[in-house]
Amino acid sequence: MKHDFLWGGAVAAHQLEGAWATDGKGVSTADVLTVGGVGKRRRITAGVRPDEYYPHHDAIDFYHHYKDDLALMAEMGFKAFRTSINWTRIFPTGVEDTPNEQGLKFYDNLFDTCLKYGMEPVITLSHFEIPYYLVEHFGGFRSKEVSQYFVHFAKTVIERYQYKVKYWLTFNEINNQSGFEDLSCFTNSGLVFEEGDNRAQITYQAVINECIASAEVVAFAHALNPGLKMGCMLACVPLYPSTCRPEDLLLAQRANKQRTYFYGDLFVHGVIPEYMVKEWEATGISVEISERERAILKSGTVDFISLSYYMSFTISTTEQSKSHQVMPGIYLVNNPYIQASDWGWPIDPQGLRYVLNELYDRYQKPLFIVENGFGAKDVVEGGKIHDPYRIDYLRQHIESMKQAIEIDGVDIMGYLVWGCIDLVSFGTGEMDKRYGMIYVDRDNRGQGSLKRLKKDSFDWYTKVIATNGEDLSEVHQ
Ligand code: BG6
Repeated sequence: MKHDFLWGGAVAAHQLEGAWATDGKGVSTADVLTVGGVGKRRRITAGVRPDEYYPHHDAIDFYHHYKDDLALMAEMGFKAFRTSINWTRIFPTGVEDTPNEQGLKFYDNLFDTCLKYGMEPVITLSHFEIPYYLVEHFGGFRSKEVSQYFVHFAKTVIERYQYKVKYWLTFNEINNQSGFEDLSCFTNSGLVFEEGDNRAQITYQAVINECIASAEVVAFAHALNPGLKMGCMLACVPLYPSTCRPEDLLLAQRANKQRTYFYGDLFVHGVIPEYMVKEWEATGISVEISERERAILKSGTVDFISLSYYMSFTISTTEQSKSHQVMPGIYLVNNPYIQASDWGWPIDPQGLRYVLNELYDRYQKPLFIVENGFGAKDVVEGGKIHDPYRIDYLRQHIESMKQAIEIDGVDIMGYLVWGCIDLVSFGTGEMDKRYGMIYVDRDNRGQGSLKRLKKDSFDWYTKVIATNGEDLSEVHQ
């Protein structure tokens, strides 16, 4: 492993900061999401309603605890800490000309604290928390005006923090919307659909608007300060063919291109790939993009590719027992070779090595794993949390990453554990789906003392970082 490998952890502002209406902050898409659970979808409400419980409003109150929390992360030896800048702290509705100084000051203090501990802040500009006002008044990123508001926000914060933050990611998991599921489209792009809408058309237009905005921001940052490193962020869920039937292979190849590589190809080459042009022609989708915008796309290509990795899926052209149709002619099927978490997420450490190879072979750009982790229920016994399941998950994934580096020659900049401190789950809004190495006493209804406790994984990860990934063995408590 390189001596400057960026070990650390990752979070997103809306999932831990709380203080949703403090110091001039406006309402974001995350602030109108109710709590859900296994088999119970989260709901999006029309604005903040007094009779609903919104878990992101207070979250774990990192806004007031960040100094102590970062001290714990420093104790684990973090070299990097990834979070996002909550857009509505800086521009409460998104359309203001002048930023909110109180919001800017918060992130100044946060980044100063990271730097004091020698932790590189890794900053996402948009992580599922766009201003709700932009949803209500413009329909989110379906409007090119919203792209311009995003660019204004991004330029403001990059200019302000350019000497504190070197690593920037534009949109979190930008490809986490091609399934056209309501929650992802809403949070990523502020899209709300109505009966009869052509969802694919609207979503692809929003995606293209976001990619142009991203490229404009990348080009701006490169011109402003050549020391800045700009990356895109992809949700990597490799889709395996369920059999060696050529039809299944071709299906998986095409689905991987549509769900993941389309975005990577755009960010790396700055051109809409021909296979997608053909796909749009075949399905009657017409995306509006001017020659000027095509030039912007080309002018702002990324320096590195960051990714989240949690699981793989297996797909088939044919229906099978327990399969589930995700799109016409595409069935998600059970993979008999891998287990799943309590939330039904397949656990596939080798899939990480597979995906790292695929990305590196295709792009030859440095990769940065900015999310990987295990959501599980934890039990506190006499002030201790024994979480061997989390250690096992992380160990196997780190081993797989090391194989990609040491055997396959993949260039990887760092590894960040998702939800290094317990936070609100994005998918379900629960606190019970815990990823942290630091436990936070708070439950699904917002009850609890907010006290922080170290889990067994805290000591384990401390040792992993101290040995630069050499010693992955269990620490006996
Ligand atoms: C990623 C997101 O998709 O997965 C995070 O970037 C999210 O915001 C993480 O929290 C884990 O998902 P969940 O639903 O378990 O919180």
